[in-house]
Amino acid sequence: MEKTIDENKQGQSLVIDKKEGNKRKLFIESYGCAMNFSDSEIVASIMANQGFNTTQNLEEADLVLVNTCSIRDKAEQTVRKRLEKYNAVKRDHNPNMKVGVLGCMAERLKTKFLEEEKIVDLVVGPDAYKDLPNLLAEVDEGRDAINVILSKEETYGDISPVRLNTNGVSAFVSITRGCDNMCTFCVVPFTRGRERSRDPQSIIEEVNDLWSRGYKDITLLGQNVDSYLWYGGGLKKDFEKASDMQKATSVNFSNLLEICAKAQPKMRIRFSTSNPQDLTLDVVKTMAKYQNICNHIHLPVQSGSNRILKEMNRLHTREEYMELIDNIREIIPNCTISQDMIVGFPTETEDDFQDTISLMKYVKYNFGYMYKYSERPGTMAGRNMKDDVPEDTKKRRLQDIVDLQRIHSEIKTKEWLGKTVEVLIEKESKKSDQQWSGRTSESIVCVFPKGHYKVGDFVNVKVTNCTSATLIGEAVGFSQNT
Ligand code: SAH
Ligand code: F3S
Repeated sequence: MEKTIDENKQGQSLVIDKKEGNKRKLFIESYGCAMNFSDSEIVASIMANQGFNTTQNLEEADLVLVNTCSIRDKAEQTVRKRLEKYNAVKRDHNPNMKVGVLGCMAERLKTKFLEEEKIVDLVVGPDAYKDLPNLLAEVDEGRDAINVILSKEETYGDISPVRLNTNGVSAFVSITRGCDNMCTFCVVPFTRGRERSRDPQSIIEEVNDLWSRGYKDITLLGQNVDSYLWYGGGLKKDFEKASDMQKATSVNFSNLLEICAKAQPKMRIRFSTSNPQDLTLDVVKTMAKYQNICNHIHLPVQSGSNRILKEMNRLHTREEYMELIDNIREIIPNCTISQDMIVGFPTETEDDFQDTISLMKYVKYNFGYMYKYSERPGTMAGRNMKDDVPEDTKKRRLQDIVDLQRIHSEIKTKEWLGKTVEVLIEKESKKSDQQWSGRTSESIVCVFPKGHYKVGDFVNVKVTNCTSATLIGEAVGFSQNT
């Protein structure tokens, strides 16, 4: 693979891996979670071996692949709109273009997709990407093709991803696939299947390879990273049957973090996402022990009401969650904590909602992602509970927590005023071409005048000002890390 510089629509330079001699053009776009973006890089790698290089121009694409999200109805509607767009491009400019749907919608809708959307030629679920060459051969011969078989083993650990739309500095490394948690609102266990952990050896190889290619910040990805467990392969539930030897040499998430931190002591290491019921204090202690493991935990709670948490099948109480927060803050005082929250889950009363508000006030999250409950067909809540909170109430509750979060973010961001923080430069600031944008170890975005620095530098920045979510400062020199 050689590196070439492409221009995207915003005119920003992007480094995209290209394979020499490839003639066909692949337009690939992703919606939804980081795992989808990471999977698209695996798909791009598989397609590169089939003679495809990526393009950012829909009109010249031989093949369009859209990696889809089913998490909320709105996410699915967004993809339907994109399909309309592809339809128009195919009709007006590119009659030979083929269209494939990947990811969670492919898994959820299966053959329905081919029936409902005439534009779609190819439907491929999240565990079937290695079958793309065969499926593509079908499509080339004019037949629709589909594979939505979920796997108990597939982790794509042996595929070296083609980095798409990369800044050359930060990258995702997937460590688990699927989820066994069965939160009652969530479609992921149905679309991504059983939880599997990837061989730590292949993870380390990927991390080392990224470092050797100049990457300096990686995020270990999984739906539920803290339940990572490697004992030689297979499902976590079968661990009991494993041999004593396998048990003795097993690797849990805390071990994996440590192995990664030691393998590349200058690489910043992040992870996402943690389910509170699975995050152990061992993990937090490992974070504290290694300076290169970033001080940020994304710790979705979804609700502050014990009754709703139970209905959601979240296996902890609000009190246990608060205790976990206290412990994290004791071990890593600076640790950024962020949330996901759902309002309007079936049967949520005003009292339940006030419990969410009071939990937020207790924690004072640095930032968060907040959603109105969206009923998903096939989930436990979708099947057994009526979506009974009126839309107006959902809207109002959402606005209330978004407003509260903004206040908390502002308080938290202001705590950095006057301090000097270490920033890894990731890209040009969106607001000014005179400024760099990067993140601190705590995942706080920081912008500052470019000076003589460049993307990929670790820089000490004195914070002089801030908005509710962004630090503004002046560079005072390279940090020790550079
Ligand atoms: N563990 C996963 C969670 C994926 S879903 C991870 O890696 O982040 C991301 C967030 O979407 C969830 O934390 C939840 O807040 C929200 N979500 C999931 N299902 C939802 C639904 N049916 N309606 C509204 N929000 C939902
Ligand atoms: Fe979904 Fe709960 Fe797993 S939110 S991805 S079922 S941890």
